[in-house]
Amino acid sequence: DKGEYPHFMLKEIYEQPEALTNAMRGRLHEADATAHFGGLNLTAAQLRQVERIIITGCGTSYYAGLVGEYLIEDLARLPVEVEYASELRYRHPPIDPQTILLAITQSGETADTLAALREANRRGQTTLAICNVVGSSIAREAHGGVYLHAGPEIGVASTKAFTAQCLVLTLLALYLGRLRHLSVSQGQRILRELQALPEAVRQALQCHDSVKTLAEKYSHATNMLYLGRQYLYPVALEGALKLKEISYIHAEGYPAAEMKHGPIALVDEQTPSVFLVPSGPVFDKVLANMQEIKARGGPIIAITSGNEAEVAAIADDVIAVPAVAEYLQPIVTVIPLQLLAYEMALLRGCDVDRPRNLAKSVTVE
Ligand code: M6R
Repeated sequence: DKGEYPHFMLKEIYEQPEALTNAMRGRLHEADATAHFGGLNLTAAQLRQVERIIITGCGTSYYAGLVGEYLIEDLARLPVEVEYASELRYRHPPIDPQTILLAITQSGETADTLAALREANRRGQTTLAICNVVGSSIAREAHGGVYLHAGPEIGVASTKAFTAQCLVLTLLALYLGRLRHLSVSQGQRILRELQALPEAVRQALQCHDSVKTLAEKYSHATNMLYLGRQYLYPVALEGALKLKEISYIHAEGYPAAEMKHGPIALVDEQTPSVFLVPSGPVFDKVLANMQEIKARGGPIIAITSGNEAEVAAIADDVIAVPAVAEYLQPIVTVIPLQLLAYEMALLRGCDVDRPRNLAKSVTVE
C-alpha cells in the first residue's frame, strides 16, 4: 500500500530513517562497543581467521558492495574485492581457505548473484549474504548472513535497500574491526555516530523542495555526469544508475579526478555534472575537480556537507546535506540523488515505479 504517497519509490525514499532504525535494532552492543548479529553462523574465532573478503552483487547491490570495500578496509583493515556477480560466476579466481564470499542482494533471488554464491559453496568456501527478503534463495543457501529488515521494497529503483545495505556493511565492518584492532573508545564513537544517523537522514530529506526546483531546471538534459571521490565514488555510480533507470536520461558516474583522463571531453553547456562534495579530507580535492569542469563551461550541481559558501563560489546550484562521519556519508548523500532521479522522471512523464524494460528482480541470467 502506497499510503499517502503517489509512488512506492517516494514512499520508500521517505521510509529510510525508519528502515535504518530497524536495520540497527538489537544489533548495537554498548557493553562490548560493537555490533552483534544473530545469523552469521561463524564464531568470533572463525571470523578472526578471515584474511580476505570477496563481495559480489548486481546493480545497486554491487554499488553498496563498493561502499563496503571502503568500510571494511577502513574499520577492519581487511582486503576486500568487489566483483559483479555476472562476471565472478564464470571466473576462476585463486581462492584460499581464509577468503570468504559475501553476497549482497535485496531480493535474494538475482540469478547471477545466486549462481556466484553456489559456485563458491561448491568450492567449499564460506559464504555470507546480506539480504532483505527473508527466506529467499540466497538467504537460504549462504552459510550465514544478515537481514536488512528494511521492509518490502516494491519500486523497481532500489532506494531504502541501498541505504540499509550500506548500514549493515558498516555494522559488519565495526564487528570485524572490533575483532581486530579497533579500541573500545573507537567502537563507542562509531556506535554514537550510528545512533545519530536516522536523524541525519531525516534532515537530508528536507532538501526535497530544493531538489524539485533543481529538477525543473535540468529535466531537459540528455546527458549528465555524477562525480565523487572515495566513499562517495560508489554513490556517484548509484546516483547515475537511479537517473538512468527511471528517467531514461543518459548518466555516467566517475571518480571525480578521472574526468581529465577522457570523459571531460563530454563536458559542454548542455551537460550538467552532479558533484558530491563532502566535508573532511576530500573537500578541497573535489573543489579542484569542480574547477576543472567549470573551466569547460559545464553546469555544476553540488551536493555538499562542507562549507556551502566555498562550494557556491564554483557551483551553479548547491544542495546541503548534514555532516556525518566520513564512513556514513554515502547513506546521507544518496538521499538527494534518489529524489533528483524521482523528480526528473516525474517531469518527463516516466512511470517511476515500473520503468521500461526492467523487472524488480532479475531471475534470468
Ligand atoms: O535484488 P538485488 O539486490 O540482487 O538486485 C540487484 C539489481 O538488479 C538491482 O539493484 C537493480 O540494479 C535495481 N533496479 C537498481 O535500482
